[in-house]
Amino acid sequence: MRRFRFEEDADVAADIREKFGFDGDLLDLFANNSGAVVHKWHHYIPLYDRYFAQFRGKPIRFLEIGVNKGGSLQMWRGYFGPEAKIFGIDINEECAAFDGQAGQVRIGSQADPDFLNKVVDEMGGIDLVLDDGSHRMPHVRASFDVLFPRLEDGGIYMVEDLHTAYIEKFGGGYRSRANFFRFLRDLTDDMHNWYHKKGLRHPEFKRMISGYHVHDSIAVIEKGATHRPVHSRVGG
Ligand SMILES: C[S@@+](CC[C@H](N)C(=O)[O-])C[C@H]1O[C@@H](n2cnc3c(N)ncnc32)[C@H](O)[C@@H]1O
Repeated sequence: MRRFRFEEDADVAADIREKFGFDGDLLDLFANNSGAVVHKWHHYIPLYDRYFAQFRGKPIRFLEIGVNKGGSLQMWRGYFGPEAKIFGIDINEECAAFDGQAGQVRIGSQADPDFLNKVVDEMGGIDLVLDDGSHRMPHVRASFDVLFPRLEDGGIYMVEDLHTAYIEKFGGGYRSRANFFRFLRDLTDDMHNWYHKKGLRHPEFKRMISGYHVHDSIAVIEKGATHRPVHSRVGG
């Protein structure tokens, strides 16, 4: 993705401020980071804040898939505050060196259900997931399948770098069945099962999804009980 690289030595904060009208702690934590490397696309910063701000300063349980140099865990600690329980997982054993710094780090694969369940048990439940792991479609789905049902109601599941959904070496492809956005399309049909009655494509997520948002390369899926819709005519 070299062709999308922002110019070296240009002002990262100014770019984010100008394009997205965004300012705040997260911009500062990212753009002025002098600790371990954090590598993020600029448009993610206001999106993180849009969905995660409500969880700041609270004892929430946050899991990031993909630790790499440990920089993002530091950023999240600065953003969510001291009360948050922050865990990171990575398949690379070298990431164990970051355990106990900004958060807890556990080594294993995001495609391993037993490992994921053990981590969530250790966390005592889970409110937020950010998938910044392998970005391979089967892995993204494997993690979602295990972790989404375990999210608390009101929780958020975010997957980033989903441009990979269009790249074959990541198991994706334009209009391919494995493309994560195709899965979201199926979930859209399931959310509207009240009206078409064609059956559920993914009954395992029945009535768990209160909504989802798609942004460039980011999917945000909201966990929440749904109810049989009713309407009323009021007034007149
Ligand atoms: C993009 S980096 C994470 C960057 C980090 N979140 C940040 O913002 O600085 C992706 C990480 O996912 C890890 N990874 C790759 N395959 C994985 C898998 N199957 N399970 C867990 N982690 C994996 C890699 O070792 C790598 O450290």
